[in-house]
Parts: sequence; C-alpha cells; structure tokens
Amino acid sequence: MERTFVMVKPDGVQRGLVGEIISRLERKGLKIVAIKMLKITEEMAKRHYEEHKSKQFFSSLVSYITSGPVVAMVVEGNNAVKVVRKLVGATNPSEAEPGTIRGDFGLDVGRNVVHASDSLASAEREIGLFFTPDEILSYEREVDRWIYER
Ligand code: RTP
Ligand code: MG
Repeated sequence: MERTFVMVKPDGVQRGLVGEIISRLERKGLKIVAIKMLKITEEMAKRHYEEHKSKQFFSSLVSYITSGPVVAMVVEGNNAVKVVRKLVGATNPSEAEPGTIRGDFGLDVGRNVVHASDSLASAEREIGLFFTPDEILSYEREVDRWIYER
C-alpha cells in the first residue's frame, strides 16, 4: 500500500472546500491515515517547496502557503501518489480538466487549492516534514474488501 501527502492550501480552507476535498479522496476509496490543521511557518514552507527555491514565483508561493491555516493529510491506497495527482489535476487550474479538484474549483495557478506529492520520494519526504510516525495510524476498514479485489 502506498502513502502520499495531501494538503488543502489556505485558499481551500478559506473557501470552505476542506470537506469537499476530503470527500473526493474518501469516495475514491483512499484511506486517511493522518490529518491535522496547522499554520505553516515560513521556514517549513521553504523546506516543503525547496525544489522551487530558484524560481521567480518562490517568494509569492511561500507567502501564499503561509497566509492561513492548511489541512495536512497522509492518504493511503493502491498507487496513491499517482491516483491523488489525477484527482487533483494540472498545476494551473485554468488548464486542469473538469472533474479534477483544481479543474472544478480554481482559475489561478497561485490559488490552486490543494497540494499533492508528485512522486514516492517526495511523498516520503513531505510526510516526514509534517507528521511524526506516531501521528500516522494503521487501521483496518471492513469496506476494503469491496474496494480491492484482494
Ligand atoms: P503542488 O506542489 O503545490 O502540489 O503543485 P504542483 O506539483 O502541481 O506544481 P509545482 O510545479 O510543484 O508548483 C508548486 C506550486 O507553486 C505554484 N506555482 N506558481 N506562478 C507560477 O508560474 C507558478 N507555478 C507554480 C503553484 O501554487 C503550485 O502548486
Ligand atoms: Mg509540486
């Protein structure tokens, strides 16, 4: 089973989209194994998005992501990294397909509602940045036999 890191960004929280986004993940069959609301510090924002530190949008990205509370999650499921990226949609909401979170709820690349890890390595790094091992739960769901063939 794969794990990925998902975060409702400050605009998603302000716009009341937390429930909608969690619902979409749940309805897909994914399992939430950790969740918390927090306000990201500037230092943490810079670490989270360190791959973008040389980009011209880096400082606006850091201010955006630290501008209000976010909801951070660890989500588990078969091929979770790829599946969640598909549910989230293209980086620029204007280009994201309808039916995806960004395609349905955004218009601006600088207000794209949600973050999801782009690889297994990023997922591991980001999960480690936001959660301690004891905050991540292992539990069985009876319904999983109706979601997975085996
Ligand atoms: P994320 O990391 O937030 O899930 O987004 P992503 O993988 O789809 O896109 P990425 O290339 O990692 O970019 C990170 C975030 O930076 C902002 N951005 N702004 N102004 C711009 O051209 C620009 N490009 C990217 C977006 O908020 C993007 O989600
Ligand atoms: Mg990214």
